Amino acid sequence: MGKSIRLDKFLVEMDRGSRSQIKEAAKKGRIQVNGQVEKKTERKIDPDTDQVLFDGMPVAYRALEYYMLNKPQGVVSATEDNLHKTVIDLLTGEKRNDLFPVGRLDIDTEGLLLLTNDGDLAHRLLAPKKHVDKQYYAKVSGSLPDNSVEIMAEGMTLSDGTEVKPAILEIGGCTELLRAKTGTSEPQENAGDLEQTIPCTEVLLTIHEGKFHQVKRMFEALDCRVEYLKRLSMGSLQLDETLAPGEYRSLTEEEITRLQQHK
Ligand code: URA
Repeated sequence: MGKSIRLDKFLVEMDRGSRSQIKEAAKKGRIQVNGQVEKKTERKIDPDTDQVLFDGMPVAYRALEYYMLNKPQGVVSATEDNLHKTVIDLLTGEKRNDLFPVGRLDIDTEGLLLLTNDGDLAHRLLAPKKHVDKQYYAKVSGSLPDNSVEIMAEGMTLSDGTEVKPAILEIGGCTELLRAKTGTSEPQENAGDLEQTIPCTEVLLTIHEGKFHQVKRMFEALDCRVEYLKRLSMGSLQLDETLAPGEYRSLTEEEITRLQQHK
């Protein structure tokens, strides 16, 4: 069955520019459909059967794909890496070379990572101005100051002077013992290799930005250390808790539509 899609949407999805750039290009006669110059970018086409040319070059149809991965520890959020397995290596199947992760999680962070070939959506979700909320679950060692919730709610300054926006901290009731590496307050991958059982507090932290090692650095600024970190959500997208670390699934139509609404 053929699928019909607006010409401008099709060309935006195939990375030929923004909707307004496509409209301009059409006005200038740079777009053809089935051999005819087409100036009406709102018209519908069937990408499987209609032939679209942009500046005389055929625009090959590549379906957009969206996967939710529960990233395990030990893999890097990249498309290629000489040393480590990448999140793309976790996907099974033939044509995986156009997919990329939307944003990064540290090598030792678990949880929600969106993998897609939709550059336009990725750009919108990562744009600093869009403030897409990200919620993390963390186990934190060290004693959290009594006013941690207020400090994070006000927006804080990290040890290198970086300012971070207000964040929502929720502190879990219980403290649990965790086998963790101890020795330094550096991000975990650089930690010393001394293993000890240490008490940790469970917390939820919602941030609106995505600065390098942001969650770990926010707790370091409070003289604490993140021993375990897992991302639970990104905007409207929630980690499917039935996915074990390393497992993934396609997003549902509803999840895709909700993500697309982050304008
Ligand atoms: N903040 C961190 O410190 N690490 C991550 O992987 C994500 C957010």
